Amino acid sequence: MAKRVLTGITTTGIPHLGNYVGAIRPAIAASREAGVDAFYFMADYHALIKAGDPKRVAESRQALAATWLAAGLDHEKVTFYRQSDVPEIPELCWLLTCVTAKGLLNRAHAYKASVDQNTAAGEDPDAGITAGLYMYPVLMAADILAFDAHWVPVGRDQIQHIEMARDIAQRFNHRYGGDHFVQPEALIEEHSAILPGLDGRKMSKSYDNTIPLFEGGSRGLKESISRIVTDSRGPGEAKDPDSTSLTMIYRSFASDTQYGEFRQALEQGLAWGEAKQQLFARVEAEIGPMRDAYEDLQAHPERVEAILQDGARKARALAVPKLAALREAVGLGRASAMAARPVAKPKGDKSARLASFRDDLGQFRFRLFAADGRELLLSVPFADPKQAGQAQAALRTPSAAVELVNAGDHVELKLNGEVLAHSSSHPDVEAVSSLEFGIRQALDQLQAG
Ligand code: TRP
Repeated sequence: MAKRVLTGITTTGIPHLGNYVGAIRPAIAASREAGVDAFYFMADYHALIKAGDPKRVAESRQALAATWLAAGLDHEKVTFYRQSDVPEIPELCWLLTCVTAKGLLNRAHAYKASVDQNTAAGEDPDAGITAGLYMYPVLMAADILAFDAHWVPVGRDQIQHIEMARDIAQRFNHRYGGDHFVQPEALIEEHSAILPGLDGRKMSKSYDNTIPLFEGGSRGLKESISRIVTDSRGPGEAKDPDSTSLTMIYRSFASDTQYGEFRQALEQGLAWGEAKQQLFARVEAEIGPMRDAYEDLQAHPERVEAILQDGARKARALAVPKLAALREAVGLGRASAMAARPVAKPKGDKSARLASFRDDLGQFRFRLFAADGRELLLSVPFADPKQAGQAQAALRTPSAAVELVNAGDHVELKLNGEVLAHSSSHPDVEAVSSLEFGIRQALDQLQAG
């Protein structure tokens, strides 16, 4: 089975060259590997924890989606979606909240750091801290556990959150019995490149030393590169290649041979201006075509929207049945109520009905129709008409042996664990849910009649 790799991208800010080299490029490369089933999503619910400005949240979310797609993310292979388009995530978040120890959340680094800051400033420990920040790790656990991800590529600062997700999953399993979740593991990129910025420190918005990825166009890129700090050695003077971040940035966009030649040229007196020109040419060769794609996507937000909706549909095809099973496990299931609930027969003589027929191959099948005549289910074929009859009789009898499963794009009816009938397929999860509801109603009517 393919390894499911899942990671979230917090939608705050606009990506710079350091984000591209350190996170975006390696993640896209990893998603292309064979045997990897990658889930990449925009953690826009998480973004609300820090950001209060709706316009910035919206812009960042849009720019990030366009950036990942323009940088080559294959949205057909990868499941690429927005967290806020999958309502099963916050739903799971609540189920997990109710098994999470408050003491566990007290120990979360981000929350603790805020408390420590308040204490140091002589303030109330919880001053200015939202419950959102406190709950951050549970929402993140829901992101991961909803999809049974095996591997979660994250930075070191996130390891604690993955450990908490495991802890929360174990508590849930312990409370409700059974194996409800895959235990996720952090995947730490030991060698992931940290790109230095203009001044040689790590490239970061908080140091104000970034080179923008796409913003500002190729002129902006050239202008930023011209501001990389170098010493004052003139043309022809031997230079120390390690005296500036120019060389490290060059390395991230060149082959080993090209990198070696570049160092040598500097040692032999290549002018800084010329070196910057060469760096610009390398970076531009890689990201120029991506920038064109980015600008195109930014000009057509409806294309990005369609891709993300498709991603949400794929994600929900897993999350909807997962949550149905989890609701069942905690006692909020709908199927378990089915046998017990008394149902009034609808007024008039119209009711749900079963209809037998022989298919093209001469096999015996039946259909379930709703009171309004809508076809709901088609049975599997039976060679023996008696068996087909017994199966129909089972559906008329209230019994726990009959189970409805929402399989994401269609509904299955199982009898004693075996698929007996299935609905037609629908790409739209809402349509599938409404169909599921209709089937339950129809079965209730059959059993009441
Ligand atoms: N907290 C992560 C970060 O800041 C982003 C994130 C949200 C995430 N949900 C996730 C990462 C789930 C991995 C899995 O980097």
